[in-house]
Amino acid sequence: MLFSVLTIFPDFFHSPLREGIVRRAQQDGRIEIGIHDIRDYAVDRHRMTDDRPFGGGEGMVMKPEPLAACVRAAVRPDRAGRVILLSPKGERFTQARAERLAGYGQLVLICGRYEGVDERFRDRYVEEELSIGDYVLTGGELAALVVIDAVCRLLPGVLGCGDSAANDSFSRGLLKHAQYTRPRVFEGMEAPEVLLSGDHAAIDRYRLVESVRLTLERRPELLALARFSPAEEKILRREGLYGQIEALTRRGSIDAD
Ligand code: ADE
Repeated sequence: MLFSVLTIFPDFFHSPLREGIVRRAQQDGRIEIGIHDIRDYAVDRHRMTDDRPFGGGEGMVMKPEPLAACVRAAVRPDRAGRVILLSPKGERFTQARAERLAGYGQLVLICGRYEGVDERFRDRYVEEELSIGDYVLTGGELAALVVIDAVCRLLPGVLGCGDSAANDSFSRGLLKHAQYTRPRVFEGMEAPEVLLSGDHAAIDRYRLVESVRLTLERRPELLALARFSPAEEKILRREGLYGQIEALTRRGSIDAD
């Protein structure tokens, strides 16, 4: 996967991309990250990438020509790619979207700034506009890092343990159950006995129930995406949880995303 980031702050990316799993994925050749400075594609003497909005109003708008030239330079026609603008006006970036984006060969991530980008650029070049949440950042740079991180860890061979991504929160419409490690007793609090029992079927049952409890408590709307096998349904019925899930779905208070 090639990530091509278009930004007016290229230095922003140096340190975060040199750490942890993203760093290792680059070293192993599983991902490549290219940082493109939009300013290098400015068409005037002052290397301007923004200008005042037509019609007046506050703030500045990113000019279309440098953005367009930068996208043209970054896009690799030999890769099935996607041109994505990061902006608070975009559709929500979710785990499902990260999984879909992981199927492409190149993601071109455009970091918006100021009051937004010229609409004509968006119309012609942008294939998806994504927001990482309902808050306004000073620019799309942090959002681009979020997309790189979330997509990178889904690519084959990037995570050490084969199925770590399959058990993620959200991957099956459930939040992940709580985890414990040594010591067995911490400040007087014991780790749940079942996790030390060695009974893997009992551990799976316990974790399923804990995941569902947590999801019902914190993010009931996620349960619209959850699917349970007949065996799981039986366990959840026994724990008195399945009725709650059904009731939420019936009342229509769960909205599939
Ligand atoms: N740029 C500014 N705010 C943003 C957000 N919430 N998501 C993506 N890009 C942004």
